[in-house]
Amino acid sequence: MRKIELSKTGLMVPDIAIGCMNYCGKEEKEIEVLVKTAMEMGANFFDHADIYGGGESERKFASAINMNGELRSKMILQSKCAIVPHQRYDFSKEHILKSVDGTLQRLRTDYLDVLLLHRPDTLFDEEVAEAFAELKKSGKVRFFGVSNHNPMQMQLLEKITGEKLVANQLQFGVAHSEMIANGINVNMKTPSANVKDGAVLEYCRLTDTTIQAWGPVRGTVKGKTIFNDENCTDLLKKLEEVGKEYGLSKEATAIAWILRHPANMQAILGTTNADRLKDYLTASGVKIDRQHWYDIYAAAGNNLP
Ligand SMILES: NC(=O)c1ccc[n+]([C@@H]2O[C@H](COP(=O)([O-])OP(=O)(O)OC[C@H]3O[C@@H](n4cnc5c(N)ncnc54)[C@H](OP(=O)(O)O)[C@@H]3O)[C@@H](O)[C@H]2O)c1
Repeated sequence: MRKIELSKTGLMVPDIAIGCMNYCGKEEKEIEVLVKTAMEMGANFFDHADIYGGGESERKFASAINMNGELRSKMILQSKCAIVPHQRYDFSKEHILKSVDGTLQRLRTDYLDVLLLHRPDTLFDEEVAEAFAELKKSGKVRFFGVSNHNPMQMQLLEKITGEKLVANQLQFGVAHSEMIANGINVNMKTPSANVKDGAVLEYCRLTDTTIQAWGPVRGTVKGKTIFNDENCTDLLKKLEEVGKEYGLSKEATAIAWILRHPANMQAILGTTNADRLKDYLTASGVKIDRQHWYDIYAAAGNNLP
């Protein structure tokens, strides 16, 4: 696996991470195979959240592999907090500390490598700084980041907490590339020129913040992937055609397309199928050329002025 440095932390992480959101619906035997497959291929970065399956994904993950100190030391574990089902978002000190304790217990570990604030809480205040300071001091969290945040929100959090945010986890993939579209269509009349995210891609590059691409193969319609979305027929043909040039499947090519961007993103896979996982991981380290990258972008229906 190709490794990238997570922000400027010195922590080297695989450019493809394993998303564990759907582990809650799986048998522990299946999870064990998934985690072992990933580890054997060098994909030792696992992405969790306190809300995945109401905590079941974290619990089953650790139980399935019988988590112990030796295994833990070979892994990089990330989790998220601050979405509260039915109530919404909570960056209060009490909530963050309680959430991390729950995650640590379920994952059977005493520290997280990375904690992300899952979605912005517009009511956040200085309490988030107190929470980060306490988590750092106790050794429960090594690095902090965010998910689904814009650059101003990131700056504000950094000002208040004094912590450099190491990652921003954002939806990104061949069929969801908004953060690229507005940069390509600068000053045009087309809707894709609208900057909806505060130029988060460029901001993360400027500040050496790692972008983690969630939903890498989601389609254009909710609940669909690019593989069963009728809007993605041309895209799939192009992925297959380009993939052949690099000895990759169309699926792995969709991930190679994300990794090709010089922002040095980390793709977060959501598959719970071990064969698919193996195939996706072959995208690591494959650099598709500029023309192929733009061909895929255009085949996804994007405007190239
Ligand atoms: N920060 C956030 O707000 C946020 C939001 C959502 C997710 N996430 C994180 O990002 C990770 C990935 O997100 P995601 O699950 O949306 O990712 P994804 O990889 O785009 O989608 C995964 C889904 O696509 C299916 N799939 C994948 N490849 C397929 C193929 N070749 N053919 C048919 N179906 C296929 C999977 O089914 P199979 O399991 O059957 O392969 C699974 O249902 C999550 O696990 C989570 O860790 C973060």
